[in-house]
This record gives sequence, structure tokens and C-alpha cells, in this order.
Amino acid sequence: MRYAFKVAAVIVMHGVTWPFALPARFGYRMGGSERAFDFSAKLLSLAPGRLGQLLRASFYMQTLDRCHYDLSVGFGSFFSHPCAEVGRRVGIGSFSIIGMVRLGDDVMIASRVSVLSGKYQHGDGRHGLARAPRFRRVHIGAGTWLGEGSLVMDDVGRGCIVAGGSVVTKAMPDGTTAIGNPARFLHHREQGEAAAV
Ligand SMILES: CC(C)(COP(=O)(O)OP(=O)(O)OC[C@H]1O[C@@H](n2cnc3c(N)ncnc32)[C@H](O)[C@@H]1OP(=O)(O)O)[C@@H](O)C(=O)NCCC(=O)NCCS
Repeated sequence: MRYAFKVAAVIVMHGVTWPFALPARFGYRMGGSERAFDFSAKLLSLAPGRLGQLLRASFYMQTLDRCHYDLSVGFGSFFSHPCAEVGRRVGIGSFSIIGMVRLGDDVMIASRVSVLSGKYQHGDGRHGLARAPRFRRVHIGAGTWLGEGSLVMDDVGRGCIVAGGSVVTKAMPDGTTAIGNPARFLHHREQGEAAAV
């Protein structure tokens, strides 16, 4: 019933968000430009409260590669690229920036989290970086929780925990906890007990 109410509310919001979604969608899909998407995603990130969450769910449903009605995106948070896929029941806290991603079902993202589009998005030959810029889709597995202030630049498996403030620089296997900067990985065995990978 709650889900049905949310679906109905998001559909109502389509009436408000379509002027933002239309140029964002066609600018990207037909012209390859992300400018309209970027403008609207940032503008809508500033709408407060429950209304803001519904507006954002509606906008992302119409513009991302794949997105469900039950997406919840907090104040100040936004997706930075339209080529993202979002599973069911995904929740994102406040002031998080989400790049090119595939988020599995039941992914929980806390506040002030950054998920980059891989490690090399500014590898432009300047700033001592020799590589050409390269964006790639980072996968976050189903049931994973990214803790407050974490920074993720590689794939994270299913059922993982990224501890608050941790920096994930390498792919994380399923069922592990990442702690620290750079993150070290621990397998959760049972609650309260962990063993290094
Ligand atoms: C990851 C987390 C769940 C681990 O909790 P836990 O299983 O109780 O782990 P412990 O507190 O027993 O810590 C185990 C070790 O990791 C260290 N550690 C735990 N969290 C850490 C973190 N975020 N950064 C660095 N080290 C951390 C502890 O100091 C301890 O080190 P030690 O073995 O050398 O003493 C928790 O620390 C965490 O980061 N929670 C995030 C909370 C959050 O983001 N909330 C937002 C609301 S959605």
C-alpha cells in the first residue's frame, strides 16, 4: 500500500518535472550533452523535505538509464551523469554525489558519500596524470551499505559495508567490510567477528 502511494505520488510529480526531464533526456540521448541533466539534477537537489524526495525520484525515473519509483535521494544529493542504473529500494542520504554507477537492489548510501566514475576521470595528462580521461560505470552490489563520508572509486560487491570515512580504491569482494584510507578489506563471518581477507 505504501509502495502504491509512492508510485502514485511520483507519477503526479512527473507533471512538475517533465520540463526538466525532457531537455535532460533528449540533450543526452540525441546530442550526447549532459548540460541540461547537470543543471536540473543540481537544481532539484535543493528542494527540501518529502516533496524534494518525490521530485528527485520522478526526475531520475525519467532521465537515468534505469531507475525505480522507490528511489529516495536526500537534500543536496545528485547523480552527476544520466548513464546510471538504480535498483529497487535504493536510499541516498544528504549531500552525496553519485557518478556513473549501477546500484543493486537495497543499496543504502549515507550522507556526504562520493561514488566516482572510476579512478581516472581526470587523467588528462595534466596534474602529473599520464592517462587519458576514462569514465567507467562503478557497480555497487545488492544489499551494500556505504557509510557516512566514504569515497568509492571501484566496484563494491554484494552485501558489503564501507565504513564511515573510508576510501575504496580497489574492487571489494562480496560480503566484506572496507575500513580506512586506503581501505583494507575484512570478511564478515558473524556479527562482531571479522577476519582479514
Ligand atoms: C564499519 C562499522 C559499522 C564497524 O563497526 P564495528 O563492526 O562495531 O567495528 P568496530 O567498532 O569493532 O571496529 C573494528 C576496528 O575497525 C576500526 N574502525 C571502525 N570503523 C572505522 C572507520 N570508519 N574508519 C577507520 N577505522 C574504523 C576500529 O577502530 C577498530 O580498530 P581496532 O581493531 O584496531 O581497534 C562502523 O565503524 C562504521 O563505520 N559505521 C558507519 C556509520 C555510518 O556511516 N552511519 C551513517 C548513517 S546511515
